[in-house]
Amino acid sequence: MLKLDAVTKTYRQSGNEVHALQSVNLKLEAGQFVAIRGPSGCGKSTLLLTAGGLLRPDHGSVEIDGTSLYHVSSAERAAVRQEKIGFVFQQFHLIPYLSVLDNVLSATIGTKQHLSEKKERAESLLKQFSMSHRRMHRPGQLSTGEKQRVAMARAMLNHPSLILADEPTGNLDKENADVILQQLRCLARDGAIVVLVTHDDHASAAADDVIRMEAGSLMLE
Ligand SMILES: Nc1ncnc2c1ncn2[C@@H]1O[C@H](COP(=O)(O)OP(=O)(O)O)[C@@H](O)[C@H]1O
Ligand SMILES: [Mg+2]
Repeated sequence: MLKLDAVTKTYRQSGNEVHALQSVNLKLEAGQFVAIRGPSGCGKSTLLLTAGGLLRPDHGSVEIDGTSLYHVSSAERAAVRQEKIGFVFQQFHLIPYLSVLDNVLSATIGTKQHLSEKKERAESLLKQFSMSHRRMHRPGQLSTGEKQRVAMARAMLNHPSLILADEPTGNLDKENADVILQQLRCLARDGAIVVLVTHDDHASAAADDVIRMEAGSLMLE
């Protein structure tokens, strides 16, 4: 279960305050697939980063399967991320000097699986996302849509129980977007919690529920 309780985040910069999250509450159970939809700047990426253990809120708590992410050590938080969370960043954050295949495999650093099993899964995901022919390319040699698919494969590699995807279809044509949305549906069907951030109607239609976000607050549609 993912549970956000009164999560507040304010960015302060050169005397300016941006209230990116205003007492956000959210509770999601295994198998739930939700889309969070809202205009640019309403706090969607901040919400995902906070939910994924990557950005400490000013107030409130984030709990994943009973662990309160910001009340444990950074090592424990990193372990929860490694074991449970697949994150698709809006800006991808691929490692520029690694091949596509090694970028996908980088998600398994520190996990116990055998390298051959990890490779098999990485290759299979790249195939599903029509990226096998680019497996030895570097991120700098890829189109934006191709980078997005690599980021998605990396996020899925460890069979995460929580997927946080920040506009994962934002740069894709309908056909490739549909492959990603189908994959997210499969993950939810297999019991993962899927949170899809988007400003696209087509993408949010794939989710079971749509939550609207405006100026740092959530509203169920
Ligand atoms: N690191 C930061 N420092 C200051 N302001 C930020 C920072 N990150 C985001 N913001 C501001 O917080 C608000 C929410 O940003 P963000 O969560 O990226 O929104 P969204 O993903 O919905 O476009 C925006 O007004 C943005 O300018
Ligand atoms: Mg964003």
